[in-house]
Amino acid sequence: MPHHETLQLLEERRSLRLFSDAPITQEVREALIQATLRAPSAGNLMNYSIIEVTNQEIKDRLAITCDHQPMIARAPLVWVFLADLHRLYDYFTQCDVPKLCERESREFHTPAEGEFLLAANDAIVAAQNAVVAAEALGMGSCYIGDIIENVEIHRELLDFPPWCFPVTMLIAGYPKKAPKGPKTPRIDQEFVVHNNRYKRLTPEELKQLYAKNEEHLSARYIKGAENFGQHLYLKKIGTDFAVELTRSFRKGLKEWCDGQVTRT
Ligand SMILES: Cc1cc2nc3c(=O)[nH]c(=O)nc-3n(C[C@H](O)[C@H](O)[C@H](O)COP(=O)(O)O)c2cc1C
Repeated sequence: MPHHETLQLLEERRSLRLFSDAPITQEVREALIQATLRAPSAGNLMNYSIIEVTNQEIKDRLAITCDHQPMIARAPLVWVFLADLHRLYDYFTQCDVPKLCERESREFHTPAEGEFLLAANDAIVAAQNAVVAAEALGMGSCYIGDIIENVEIHRELLDFPPWCFPVTMLIAGYPKKAPKGPKTPRIDQEFVVHNNRYKRLTPEELKQLYAKNEEHLSARYIKGAENFGQHLYLKKIGTDFAVELTRSFRKGLKEWCDGQVTRT
């Protein structure tokens, strides 16, 4: 593999969950923001917003509402990435776009599922720029997917309107100690990268893919699981977390498509 500073950085990166008390200076924060905003976005519209959470009470609350992860409360930097069409549509309204549509007998198209997905792409691409930039600045970070849950609580806490939805959250700071132990494994490229057409894996390939996990984890399977697939399902997919994730996202997506929040 060619040696390159950026490739090295990507190779060495790992999620960081234990932060030192070292503050992030204004200069470093500014560099992080600049790198984040340089991320590509669909049509260069940057249909995302970042809510920087500095208020300790809000951090404490997020540490509970995001599936009880105390490290959120201790993270020096907490950024919530929203898919955001409100900024653009407020501007459209200000520019009388609805009147233009009426005059020209066109439908005034408001944000729907497609716009959500593209805006979510924008937000996540920007978040990954922040991950890499944080790493380059000597910090570490961790995504918090659980920000997708509890949409009504997060909407109230962070005060975002219906054409906004929190697609991911990033916590970052300086490491408290040097990482130890091996990096997390990855699925081998032969099972991930397809040539021209999607190829479903054969039973033998599936077995091969997870063979190492079968070998290393069999003594620690969740109760009731007889093999790694059952363990994985019980641990990651068939959980209360997955149920809440989908409930919350369905609600948020409906509110996005309706352009209004339904109080329940
Ligand atoms: C979309 C997404 C959501 C994640 N959510 C969480 C989370 O809520 N809590 C957590 O501790 N780690 C979370 N992670 C971090 C993953 O657990 C981590 O990236 C994975 O185990 C691989 O480890 P590594 O990043 O150290 O290589 C998330 C990562 C991604 C990409």
